[in-house]
Amino acid sequence: MSPPAPDQSTSDALSGARVLVAITGGIAAYKAASLVSSLVQRGGEVTVVMTEGATRFVGELTFQALSGRPVYTSPWTHIESHDPQHVALASALDVAVVAPCTMDCLARLASGRTDDAVTLILSAVDRAVTPVVLAPSMNRVMWAQASTQRNVRTLVDDGFEMIGPGEGWQACREVGAGRMSEPDEILGALERALTRARDRRGDGRGGGA
Ligand SMILES: Cc1cc2nc3c(=O)[nH]c(=O)nc-3n(C[C@H](O)[C@H](O)[C@H](O)COP(=O)(O)O)c2cc1C
Repeated sequence: MSPPAPDQSTSDALSGARVLVAITGGIAAYKAASLVSSLVQRGGEVTVVMTEGATRFVGELTFQALSGRPVYTSPWTHIESHDPQHVALASALDVAVVAPCTMDCLARLASGRTDDAVTLILSAVDRAVTPVVLAPSMNRVMWAQASTQRNVRTLVDDGFEMIGPGEGWQACREVGAGRMSEPDEILGALERALTRARDRRGDGRGGGA
């Protein structure tokens, strides 16, 4: 029996959208597998990029299998582009999401660092055209640090969009703020970001189709 067709009924915005899922080294990296699978099932064309830290939590093979595409883990390995790879990848996106986004990644993005595969690709994304959504995930004390809160304010001022974090059970067996938003909430944020970008362009389409 053939597998059921992908469910595209609930999301026109995600269907055909070219989505970058960037994964950094937090314990919630395992939830990114569910996010990638849902995006693919809803018709998204998903490219995954991981920091070295992220690969210590979940193997890149998982994301290669789920997305059906190569996974980028190093700025120095060019997989399929003749142009500078980060520029080619960044300019062929409708939306990007960092999930989970670590405390360290927030700091790197807020200060304009580009020394890993995730921040390098994002440095080449024009956020006036292509929304970049961040899904922070960390221990409640890390989230409450003045540096983290300062970085989040800077990132919002710089045009990044935030989803979460939520409150609840944390991997450190505590309860508090800093828990990554659930994959379904992140999907909703991506739909909204795509729809806003479509409305700004006035081209009547949410994705890359
Ligand atoms: C077991 C373990 C769990 C971690 N979980 C988190 C986390 O949930 N959030 C976070 O911000 N950092 C977490 N860290 C720390 C990051 O992995 C560390 O800051 C790393 O440098 C992040 O690198 P990246 O942002 O390049 O992936 C964790 C570290 C370890 C060893």
